[in-house]
Amino acid sequence: MEQRTDNLRSREWFDTPELYGWLRRAAFMAEGHTHDAFEGKPVIGICNTWSELTHCNSHLRGLAEAVKRGVWQAGGFPMEFPVMSLGEYNMRPTTMLFRNLMSMDVEESIRANPLDGVILLGGCDKTTPALLMGAASADIPAILVTGGPQLKANWRGEELGSCTDCRRYEIELRAGRITEEDWSELQTCIVRSPGHCMVMGTASTMASVVEAMGIAPPGNAAIPAVDSRRLRLAESAGRQILRLIEDDMRPSRIMTRESFENGIRTLHAIGGSTNAIIHLMAIAGRLGVDLPLSLFDELARTTPFLLNLKPSGEFLMEDFYYAGGLSALLKEIEPLLDTSLPTVTGRTLGENIEGAVNYKPELLRSMDNPMDPEGGLAVVRGNLAPTGAIIKPTAASQSLLTHQGRALVFEDHDDLLARIDDPDLDVRPEDVLVMRNGGPIGAPGMPEWGFLPLPKKILATGVRDMVRLSDARMSGTAFGTVVVHVTPESAAGGPLAAVRTGDQILLDVPNRKLDLLVEEREIRSRLVGTPPVAPRYNRGYGWMYAQHAQQADQGCDFDFLRSDFTGG
Ligand code: FES
Repeated sequence: MEQRTDNLRSREWFDTPELYGWLRRAAFMAEGHTHDAFEGKPVIGICNTWSELTHCNSHLRGLAEAVKRGVWQAGGFPMEFPVMSLGEYNMRPTTMLFRNLMSMDVEESIRANPLDGVILLGGCDKTTPALLMGAASADIPAILVTGGPQLKANWRGEELGSCTDCRRYEIELRAGRITEEDWSELQTCIVRSPGHCMVMGTASTMASVVEAMGIAPPGNAAIPAVDSRRLRLAESAGRQILRLIEDDMRPSRIMTRESFENGIRTLHAIGGSTNAIIHLMAIAGRLGVDLPLSLFDELARTTPFLLNLKPSGEFLMEDFYYAGGLSALLKEIEPLLDTSLPTVTGRTLGENIEGAVNYKPELLRSMDNPMDPEGGLAVVRGNLAPTGAIIKPTAASQSLLTHQGRALVFEDHDDLLARIDDPDLDVRPEDVLVMRNGGPIGAPGMPEWGFLPLPKKILATGVRDMVRLSDARMSGTAFGTVVVHVTPESAAGGPLAAVRTGDQILLDVPNRKLDLLVEEREIRSRLVGTPPVAPRYNRGYGWMYAQHAQQADQGCDFDFLRSDFTGG
């Protein structure tokens, strides 16, 4: 391909009469490149979240090498650079606290350097949205390639998925149904390869949604991490980024309101993670695209849930790939999508999915025979969540979707851990477990504490689910009748702060209701008498986070990073 070079962004760095233009060439040559290797060529950044502390992304250096091959083949000059990496298992108190920080790293690393285009390499839960938030703000041509799902786990002949089945078997351990020895053996089997969690958790959800939005190439969602086809996908992306530069195809031209709607439809059709709502809102906020929470619910009502994958179904991401992958799912819901939208392939979404075949109808249902006629996520509101809360009905007990029960309140996560297994805890299976101070400001960082553990004394009776409620988040791999993202959060003065043990709570998912059955006057008076929660951080990044993070119904981004921010 003959590439125009006179209008490249990187020329601003090199075609300067001052010493630095000369020095920048010297710096490239200092890494062993000849002058001809880069002169006049588009410089392609490979923004890599590889880290040994992020096991899901531990193979991304290999993927970067494949991208480089593609860039060289197409006449570009690749430059790999590291950004912050967010490993879900290792980082404390929660990766969500650092998503915005990583997005700033990505944005400024792109903006400050002589790059004409960028390939974004991510995978583990928060790395994908943070990459896209940063790339959206920097807004130079970009293609996202995620690392792909892990291979299926297998324990004693049973196919398992991380970490849905880690959670399931932990419950069995707490209930005394498996031994510590079983549990240790399972630990050696559950993660077989690099790659992200291979159920439809947050990582798989985001990898799918971004493919539907056109910012990631076809195949991105489901090709297993260690399958050679993923390397070939990365190599192709390395070639394709040159074409995007030629066409000035920036993230803002791909991630439009219509493309977000395609993404939300896909989110519902796959029964994706509740976390995707927050991430999509945050990415949209960087682009000036309005995505109200009501839109998610509106599209859920008219999008069938089709994908029989854990945690809402039976299969795993590897199976999904063999069934035809996301292209096959998009083909199934094609009438609901705007297929005229552009994608990073240079073709429309409709052209990308032409000829896609569903090879496994028991895994990927048709619109005529869905897992559920409505989408996988629902927004509930009421006097307990005036601006909304989220539940994943597809992963919940159907018998609990309409439920009234007595509140059992935990002040925060520490209080929960201290009391949940107390043999004297006054708890019944029909109670509603409530935890507060788990939100963006209160925790801070909105950890995945929302999957509240069931009390041991309840587990001992054979019960495996109860209605649970909090202003925290829930891992996309988790399951149960769990209401999360209650907004406003308790630390921001939300009514969750007024709930007392013994109050009655009504959850009515079909009618999208979540109410505290207490007089409004009494709720107001309790809130007035509630002392503010002491901040957990008095300096540094944690302090800044609590000052500037928005509520969950707005995406939890920093107010000053949104495109509509006009100054302090
Ligand atoms: Fe990285 Fe699950 S731990 S995606």
